Amino acid sequence: MQVSVRNESITAVAADGIVVNLFEGVAQPGGATGAVNQALGGMISQLIADGDFKGKLGEVQVFRGNGVAATRVALVGLGPSGKFTLDAVRTASAEAAKALRARGAAKIATIVHGAGIGGLDARQAAAATIEGALLGLYRFGRYQTGNEDTNDIAEIIVAETGRGRLLDVETGAGHGRIVAEAVNLARDLQNEPANILTPTELASRARQALEGHGVTVEAYDQAWMKEQGMGALLGVAQGSEEPARFIVMRYDAGDSRPPVGLVGKGITFDTGGISIKPAANMDLMKTDMSGGAAVVGAMAAIGQLKPRRNVVGIIPATENMPGGRAQRPGDVVRTFGGKTVEVINTDAEGRMVLSDALGYAVAQGCQPIVDLATLTGAMTMALGRIRTGVFSNNDETMAQFLKASETAGEKMWPMPLDDEYFDQIKSDVADMMNVGGVGAGAIIGAMVLRKMVGDTPWVHLDIAGTARSEAAKGYKPKGGTGVGVRTLVAFVEQLAE
Ligand code: BES
Ligand code: MN
Ligand code: ZN
Repeated sequence: MQVSVRNESITAVAADGIVVNLFEGVAQPGGATGAVNQALGGMISQLIADGDFKGKLGEVQVFRGNGVAATRVALVGLGPSGKFTLDAVRTASAEAAKALRARGAAKIATIVHGAGIGGLDARQAAAATIEGALLGLYRFGRYQTGNEDTNDIAEIIVAETGRGRLLDVETGAGHGRIVAEAVNLARDLQNEPANILTPTELASRARQALEGHGVTVEAYDQAWMKEQGMGALLGVAQGSEEPARFIVMRYDAGDSRPPVGLVGKGITFDTGGISIKPAANMDLMKTDMSGGAAVVGAMAAIGQLKPRRNVVGIIPATENMPGGRAQRPGDVVRTFGGKTVEVINTDAEGRMVLSDALGYAVAQGCQPIVDLATLTGAMTMALGRIRTGVFSNNDETMAQFLKASETAGEKMWPMPLDDEYFDQIKSDVADMMNVGGVGAGAIIGAMVLRKMVGDTPWVHLDIAGTARSEAAKGYKPKGGTGVGVRTLVAFVEQLAE
């Protein structure tokens, strides 16, 4: 997608469609919307007076562009000014872009939503405007005949008349484009079927996406895992004919502080293994690598934004299959860090592969470490599909991370990790069991991970509820959401300061 900024009135931009906005309850549009209203002979104020446009968030009306340089004008509602946020900007921008695409537009122009009367910071508002449009336009049409070319809108122009804001708008729009494309990359990986996106293919997609941006990518094989003592990852991998990969991505900013570790669960398909899952909805388990997808997306954005902080991305990638060599309930495996785990349930495989990856991150000197995983159905029971649960062994890191999630506009919520929960996973034969009976399922999963990082500041995101969306809404498409990418980027940028 081509994104550019022009110091020009939106009325003068030649495009297939231009986007202007309106707050709920405003009768007489001002600013850029006022200028377009005037060019259209008062069409917008008339529509409001007739009660045909309310300005509700995401409401869109498309007009013929009589009197402006563009073919069409899309008017989008920003909702009530009292409830206006950067997230409202994303939603409005997405709905307007989608409405113009539906009418065949290939080149569109928009004003920055919220930077004028909205009172938002111009850089952040420009970033949110571009993020909203690019995220909203996302489609996964690769395997649909006639729909293979997913992006019909090829160019977005941001029209900004305020000279003093131009630099901020340019910086923001550029940042927004990089971040949104990174989220869309993660979505592509999530939506890719598991027969295509094997661990090997995931590694090769990571290489394709990252090496051009100065991020190195290594994909280690099972012999290497064996040498490293990654018994938990190998235990999961042994039930599959498809070889596992341990993917390590390094971004070197030449900074002297410890690298930030980003670890993503990379189960390219989760059948449950011998503790096999029921058939209904098992197809959705192709997205069990969403954590890994988020790490690839974040590394792509980081490679382009170049924050002054080193980052190591790690994805333990394997299928979880019930083959003849599959691990059995009751098996005991030794993790990279030396702790032993009794595999009571082979469907609790995410915490197994992450155990080795987290141990590796600690050994690499990463600090802090963030992991993302579609870890437990229990997480969805607790927080539904709205907020991602966040767990940590360090209050300060938790607070910093939640701050980054707010900056990025991704909804998260802190979850507890009291020591007492460990009682549920005490094992008769190993250092711990991988499941803990009834209750606190998401916390128990996190508790296993906690044992692997020791005192290294660490944050765990259980994205089981938020990695996939069941219906398209605003800038969120149906299917993979790319959750986590925006927050990871914001967190690394925050830690680079
Ligand atoms: N990948 C699943 C978790 C999941 C379920 C993600 C539904 C998204 C939607 C994970 O590997 C799993 O199977 N977890 C088990 C853990 C249980 C065996 C303790 C679960 O949640 O049922
Ligand atoms: Mn599972
Ligand atoms: Zn899983």
